[in-house]
Amino acid sequence: MQWRHKDLLDLDTLTAEEIRHIIKTAQPMKEILSRPMKKLPTLRGKNVVLLFYESSTRTRTSFETAAKILGADTTNFSVAVSSVNKGESLLDTAKTLQAMNVDLVIVRHSSSGAAEFLANVLEAGVINGGDGQHAHPTQALLDFYTLQEKLGGFEGKKIVIVGDILHSRVARSNVLGLKKLGADVTLVGPPTLLPDEMKYLGVKLSYDLDKELPGADAVMALRLQLERQQSGLFPSIREYSKLYGLSLERLKKTGKKTIVMHPGPMNRGVEIMSDLADSVQSVIEEQVTNGVAVRMALIYLLIGGGTGNVVD
Ligand code: CP
Repeated sequence: MQWRHKDLLDLDTLTAEEIRHIIKTAQPMKEILSRPMKKLPTLRGKNVVLLFYESSTRTRTSFETAAKILGADTTNFSVAVSSVNKGESLLDTAKTLQAMNVDLVIVRHSSSGAAEFLANVLEAGVINGGDGQHAHPTQALLDFYTLQEKLGGFEGKKIVIVGDILHSRVARSNVLGLKKLGADVTLVGPPTLLPDEMKYLGVKLSYDLDKELPGADAVMALRLQLERQQSGLFPSIREYSKLYGLSLERLKKTGKKTIVMHPGPMNRGVEIMSDLADSVQSVIEEQVTNGVAVRMALIYLLIGGGTGNVVD
């Protein structure tokens, strides 16, 4: 498949075939990660800028690792010591990057739409590393890679996503992609954190986790954004954990060898108990490894010229 996109802003613009192509491209990339010598010349001479206005552990480091393995140079734009602190706008920052002839910008920003704004201004490719409450497409794609690897496909698979759906860019991107791939998606959370409009995306909504667990092939816990309690969106962390926290005991209700996912960072003892997070059913660390492979695939597809065989 010849890749036709300059940017990756969310999954609404990708077809199911394109999502499957990303997963397929990531497979040989994962094999490279297990080699003693993890370095390819494929993107020598290309420059990837990591523009993170919000904190990140997994997304930033995995993009940097992915770009370096492919042979690209990386530049970390550190907001804390940049001219953003002197009031420089996102537009002027973008123009500065453009003047440096960068090839690809990975951006994370607290404002929904920031990645699209940059993509419209820059000739370089832009990958959305998470924008506000809008989208986190690369997290969703690494989740799909993990689901494909563990479940063998998506058609008819029951995926339960539980937690703070309202504020979750991970949930939004996952729903868009999982529906395209044919999965059966149920979103679970307290009424204040589960927007009714999500049902228009073709998913089931439920306030009762225990009722939805039977038959689930995968359960994805989302981070409870603890600062939300101050806004009165749920009465107490203890009550939330009792109703929506995942544990080994609770997961038995699926009646299957269900896999458990979490995008990280986790609040252990709140949305997921350590007995489950560290169990054989947990694929949380594999998600992180797969994140590097999927991000290698995306960087390669966007600035590597597309179709050739990247792996010797
Ligand atoms: N899942 C995720 O986006 O993690 P980081 O915030 O650490 O990048």
